[in-house]
Amino acid sequence: MDGNGRWARARNLPRPEGHRQGALVTRRIVEHCARRGVRVLTLFAFSSENWRRPPAEVRSLMELFLVTLRRESKRLASNGVRIRFIGDRSAFHERLQREIVSAERLTAEGERMQLNIAANYGGRWDIAQAARRLCAAVQEGRLEPHQVDEEAVAAQLTTAGTADPDLFIRTGGEHRISNFLLWQLAYTELYFTDTLWPDFQTSDLEAAFADYASRQRRFGRTEEQLRTGDLRA
Ligand code: IPE
Ligand code: MG
Repeated sequence: MDGNGRWARARNLPRPEGHRQGALVTRRIVEHCARRGVRVLTLFAFSSENWRRPPAEVRSLMELFLVTLRRESKRLASNGVRIRFIGDRSAFHERLQREIVSAERLTAEGERMQLNIAANYGGRWDIAQAARRLCAAVQEGRLEPHQVDEEAVAAQLTTAGTADPDLFIRTGGEHRISNFLLWQLAYTELYFTDTLWPDFQTSDLEAAFADYASRQRRFGRTEEQLRTGDLRA
């Protein structure tokens, strides 16, 4: 969800206004995804590198997370949306950590859609914490080094138990992953749009879905194999 700052600057507004508008858009998009049958939606809300922003902006983002969680949790629960935070939450203020736990509890029964919020998240951090857990398991004799395969790594990532993403969308015109779900995106279809996040509408999301539907996902196979249905290997 990129482009909040530029959206605000273009209107001569302070950057936090862009974030506030972005939060409103997020609410609409989350609801649209749930209606459209998306099973898992992961939003990159705050990267492990975003702490480098000016302290006042970081503070206003934290405040926005807090009030948004407080305001939206009940509504999400009644819409059948289950929230899960992925990322290192220990760096957040205690108040925010408590709000995160309570949002996760309140929405725990949701079965329509899982909403992962990546907050203080980094793809490299995720892989490193998975590696630490595997090392501990080996050290404690619960795992043999030869058992450390792709499945074992995936099972220790913060996204364990959820399928890899089918579609990745980045708004705001930059063409990079910026340390999002590095491992999980291996075969994900990437979609980039210049639209700034606060301008992103459900019709933009539908355009991304339509683009996705036109792609051929081969997962390393040839076009001919897919056409003839010869998928033995
Ligand atoms: C994304 O918008 C929101 C967060 C990172 C929290 P930006 O704040 O990065 O907006 P631009 O890139 O400056 O326009
Ligand atoms: Mg940005």
